[in-house]
This record gives sequence, C-alpha cells and structure tokens, in this order.
Amino acid sequence: MTQTAIATPLHAITSRRSVKFLRGPAPKPAELEQILQAAMSAPDHGALRPWRFVVIQGEAIGKLADVALEAVKRSGDPRMTPEKEKSVREWMASVPLFVAVAQKIAHDNTKIPEAEQLLATGCATMNILNAAHMLGYGAFWSTGIGTYVEDVQAALGLDSLDYRFLGFLAIGTPACAVPPANRPDYREFVTEWTGPL
Ligand SMILES: Cc1cc2nc3c(=O)[nH]c(=O)nc-3n(C[C@H](O)[C@H](O)[C@H](O)COP(=O)(O)O)c2cc1C
Repeated sequence: MTQTAIATPLHAITSRRSVKFLRGPAPKPAELEQILQAAMSAPDHGALRPWRFVVIQGEAIGKLADVALEAVKRSGDPRMTPEKEKSVREWMASVPLFVAVAQKIAHDNTKIPEAEQLLATGCATMNILNAAHMLGYGAFWSTGIGTYVEDVQAALGLDSLDYRFLGFLAIGTPACAVPPANRPDYREFVTEWTGPL
C-alpha cells in the first residue's frame, strides 16, 4: 500500500505522490484493467480518444531496457555513462510493470487543436496515476528511458509520424515507506477575476 489509507474520495487525489522505486507485486490483471479503464474517463474534446498505452511487463521489461539503453547510447547522449546505465538497468529490473504513453496524432482532424489532444492524453494518464494510487500501488511518470530517442518509440510500435511519445509510467508496490508530500498552498496559484482589467 502507498502511505496512509485513503480516508475520502478527495483524499485519494490529494494523498497521491509519485513513487519511483517500486517492486512486485504489480497490480493484478483485474486491477490493471480497472487502472487502464480509468484512463478512458478523461475529458476529450471531439471524442478523438487520442491516448494510447502500451503495457510492458515480465520479460519484456528486460527487452525494453536493452532496446532503450542501446538506442540512447547510439544517440551519443553523454549522460549515459556506464554507471548511469547500470543504475537505470537496476531500477527497471525492479519495476514490475511499465505503461508507455503516447498521443495518436489525428492527421485528418481539423477541428480540435493539437494542444487539446495532448491535454486529453495527459488527463487520461493522470487518471492512471490516480487509479493506481487508489488501488494501493505506487506509480511514477518518467520521460527517461530514451523517450526522446526516435528508435525507442519505433521499437514500441509508435512511429513518430503517427504518435507523439510521452514517456513511461512505472507501476508497482513502493519499495519503501512513502511519507506524505509537501504541497503548495493553492492560493499561490489562484486569483479571482471579477471584471475586465
Ligand atoms: C510528463 C512528465 C515526465 C516526467 N519525467 C520525469 C523524469 O524523467 N524523471 C524524473 O525524475 N521525474 C519526472 N517527472 C516527474 C515525476 O513523475 C513526479 O511528478 C515528480 O517527481 C513529483 O512527484 P509528485 O508527482 O508526487 O508531485 C515527470 C513528470 C511528468 C508529468
């Protein structure tokens, strides 16, 4: 379970925090179905359903690590030192489930701005993070693991001509206790508009 038990529906949202270090067990198949179904309740202008998710689990995680790390090294990214590669491999090996996130580019759509499709995909992804948390799992959205290296998204079947690749969700059981997060006071970010300025 992540942190304290969820007291109210609103607390389910406010108590979520990202958890990077995860282990098994992963959500059970029926739970994963619930988590992915939650994504389908995202707001979606024009019902374009722009979100796409690719589930990666079991032996496929090792294959993803091989493909992604080789691609990142080929891309010449100087940050991919042998030490970094080792730590990413160890991290990925301990995570029991990844979900790759992409936005399907609606080539024929002329009505709904692309930014709105991206936002709908982000909302769907947020629903996944919240649903995983509500079922007692930890989750972490990462744009590491070669997200911006074209060969990685191609290897996942997400050709860059048709998909904007948005990263990976790691999902599993928190590897250690998760203290509550410090969140800012909403008043720092909210104003009330009462008429033209
Ligand atoms: C699209 C997106 C990509 C992210 N990629 C990374 C990443 O590659 N590495 C990282 O450390 N955090 C990344 N983060 C941030 C974490 O997922 C997480 O939100 C952050 O650690 C704050 O934790 P919180 O969600 O509990 O506020 C990303 C967040 C988003 C929304």
